[in-house]
Amino acid sequence: MTRKKMLFPFLLLISILMTACSASSSGVEGPEFDKAQTEFIQELSVENIFSSLSELTKNPRVAGTSSEMQAAAFLTAQLKSEGYEVEVQPFDFERYVIPESHGLVVEDFPGPLSPAPFQYSVDGNVDGQLIDAGYGLKKDYKKIDVKGKIALVAVDKTAFYELVLFASEAGAKAILLYFPDELEIDNWTLGREHFKDFIPALALTYDEGTKLVEFLKNGTPVSAAVKIKGARIDKAASQNLIATKHPTSETDDDIILIGAHYDSVDKAPGASDNASGTAVVLELARMFKTIPTNKEIRFLFFGAEEEGLHGSEKYVSTLTKDEIKRSAAMFNLDMVGSADAGDLAIQTIDGSDNVVTKVASKANEALNGDPIETDFGDRSDHTPFHNAGIDAALFIYDPVEEWYHTPEDTIEKLSKARLVNVAKIVGTSIFELTFSGTTKE
Ligand code: BES
Ligand code: ZN
Repeated sequence: MTRKKMLFPFLLLISILMTACSASSSGVEGPEFDKAQTEFIQELSVENIFSSLSELTKNPRVAGTSSEMQAAAFLTAQLKSEGYEVEVQPFDFERYVIPESHGLVVEDFPGPLSPAPFQYSVDGNVDGQLIDAGYGLKKDYKKIDVKGKIALVAVDKTAFYELVLFASEAGAKAILLYFPDELEIDNWTLGREHFKDFIPALALTYDEGTKLVEFLKNGTPVSAAVKIKGARIDKAASQNLIATKHPTSETDDDIILIGAHYDSVDKAPGASDNASGTAVVLELARMFKTIPTNKEIRFLFFGAEEEGLHGSEKYVSTLTKDEIKRSAAMFNLDMVGSADAGDLAIQTIDGSDNVVTKVASKANEALNGDPIETDFGDRSDHTPFHNAGIDAALFIYDPVEEWYHTPEDTIEKLSKARLVNVAKIVGTSIFELTFSGTTKE
């Protein structure tokens, strides 16, 4: 008999014994909180969370603006009033400034044209002959001369940025990309990686594009003018905030990290994304200030997440090798209060379990009766921590609400029960870790 086969009945016996021993008085199996954790849960204040939320959501908190700074000042003041010293970690980041105006004129073309710029469209004010360049692939430019001209290209399967680069390499001065039928032309991005090599690019609808193609078939050369004004990449300043709770008894030198980004996108009060995570981390900082712990806990508030995880990248880049080694767990809270989102999810960069997911899943089981399965997800500040080798996970209600990143992301759309649920799960998990001696290998 193989070892595996013998193991199964043994495990069955153990699990029957464990079930018999661990069943609570209510007859429900599974992990339970101890007295201290139960008291912790009772003392969490949803009123505190909500009052922080109403302060934070007064204005959008766009990275690099004075309103992001005001949010940082509010958080700093709150943390100081709880007795924390607050480290302000300033940093610069590069951001794309959208054009203040854009336009397209095609000589003698009957009918209106309403082009849209892309995120990362470059500035330009160019005139030239408009040329139908087919699908705008390299092979097309072997037959069609676009040098010094404006290329009209049908979008098919090739990435937008590649079409822009192909036209640029072929010598075009600007490019008009017309989209497949039914595809909206607003809010697309070319990505920033090749920004320096782009030529001015505008998007047109299928209807506009095909009408222009017909118009060009006339045979007579058609001149056009493309104008994009005010688009650029410039430097902006943001800041992270760090409040550290030192261990009360120095039984090990692990560090537990918990963070949230406090910036928002433009025009959005960013209640769910991410005043929610910010307010919960603030409340947990208040709670843990007076609780004895055997590990250091760092409460982190990241700036400029929405522009590309700049705050968390900066913070991780300043950690020493020793600090990284000592960092046992990183909890990232982003979008933790929406009443319109799905269930609570725990996401990691590789989709697999780690210290954070295991302890939090157990906490959820004790609190709500079920463990939480770990999902894949890389769209927030846990990413740089994972990349540095730290066990990190994102807490998020998923699938996310449809109105995220819009002016509709307001405090009225949040659920107190959902916010406090995350505060309980993450709080009791940190509680568990700070006394469990989970020293990193
Ligand atoms: N809170 C979102 C993360 C998010 C949004 C996760 C929707 C899952 C679904 C975050 O603030 C965000 O918008 N992140 C950016 C990526 C980042 C690298 C700029 C995103 O997902 O577009
Ligand atoms: Zn977010």
